[in-house]
Amino acid sequence: MILPQSSAPLAGDWGYDRPMTNALDDFARDKLAAIEAATLTRRLKPTVRQAGGGVRRGPSRLLSFCDNDYLGLSQHPALKRAAMDATERFGAGAGASRLVTGDNPLYQALEARLARIKGTEAAIVFGSGYLANIGIIPTLVGADDLIVADELVHACLHAGARLARAEILLFRHNDAEDCQRLLGLARRNHRHCLILTEGVFSMDGDRAPVAALGAAARAHDAWLLVDDAHALGVINGGRGSGFTDGERLPVELQMGTLSKAVGAYGGYLAASRPVIELIVNRARSLIYTTALPPGTLAAAEKGLELIESDPGLVAKPVARARAFTQALNLPAAVSAIVPLILGDEARALDAADRLAQRGFLVTAIRPPTVPDGSSRLRFTFSAEHREEDVAALAEAVRALGLGAP
Ligand SMILES: Cc1ncc(COP(=O)(O)O)c(C=O)c1O
Repeated sequence: MILPQSSAPLAGDWGYDRPMTNALDDFARDKLAAIEAATLTRRLKPTVRQAGGGVRRGPSRLLSFCDNDYLGLSQHPALKRAAMDATERFGAGAGASRLVTGDNPLYQALEARLARIKGTEAAIVFGSGYLANIGIIPTLVGADDLIVADELVHACLHAGARLARAEILLFRHNDAEDCQRLLGLARRNHRHCLILTEGVFSMDGDRAPVAALGAAARAHDAWLLVDDAHALGVINGGRGSGFTDGERLPVELQMGTLSKAVGAYGGYLAASRPVIELIVNRARSLIYTTALPPGTLAAAEKGLELIESDPGLVAKPVARARAFTQALNLPAAVSAIVPLILGDEARALDAADRLAQRGFLVTAIRPPTVPDGSSRLRFTFSAEHREEDVAALAEAVRALGLGAP
């Protein structure tokens, strides 16, 4: 079928005889004008990433301190090789959802490895971390239930919570006592209750009080889901935030992504076998979507293998982040993420521009990704960064008059 140009009238069988898009385009333009007026316009910028943390953007060559490839594994020869071999062997795409013909045996190996790392009976891999959260949450709680979430959890946890149609209460960021308070007030009026938090907060780099939230969950007959998107491969020897001194904390639902430190793509849930079987039977974002390409599964498994076998590599991102916070007299980093909150959108954009002029790529993060008035530079550190790269970045930040005195 050949569609007419958007400005030409659509006629014929469907009976449309007016130009197709005017009202819609006007609507979009008005919305965009409001976004622009608030200095919140987002633009795509073609970027070529390279090994070693370098990127090419148009004519510029920059050193990236803003991606989530914490171990540099997306560029690792072993992951590329694994992806190419699996593609050669099984094809470029999965061809169908997992429950039809997309369940390549590579999934089983990957899920067994995830379950081992996470110390759970089982694990399940989704198409992405976003798809995981919007599938897991509505599978486990519904309209009669309660969700108690940290006020700063990621957009996809909010999306999952809304899809669940449960009552949602937000506790003060990283405040387990406030979580207890809300549970004390509201838990008894609901059938089931799910607590949501992030192991490492994506925009703040701080870490949830997982043990205290686990205790709150126990005390109030609730289940705890920890999103470890920024913790797997980085925290606790790479196993994530569900552990302390090698011991598993009481977290029923360890969720995360394969697209950050693991260097590939996909999301996962590690949990008990009955929970995983329920997900396979009920999670819509697992059932009604095409399986991941075989090359991606193979790369993810290789990434996890490297994380399990190389503690020296895993220790580097936080060590680099600490060197940065020390150089700038900032509170010591506890993850690979260090925010520098500047408040105003224009100020954050200007600081990012000026760092780019000095060869550093650090994206300005603005609302609605972060709360109003807390626009920031979000620095992320990778095993690929050399100590001298971090020192040069700290020097550039100081030269802009940012950081602590
Ligand atoms: C905390 C958190 N959860 C989930 C996601 C989504 O993961 P994915 O990129 O695999 O969809 C992200 C980032 O993208 C994140 O920062």
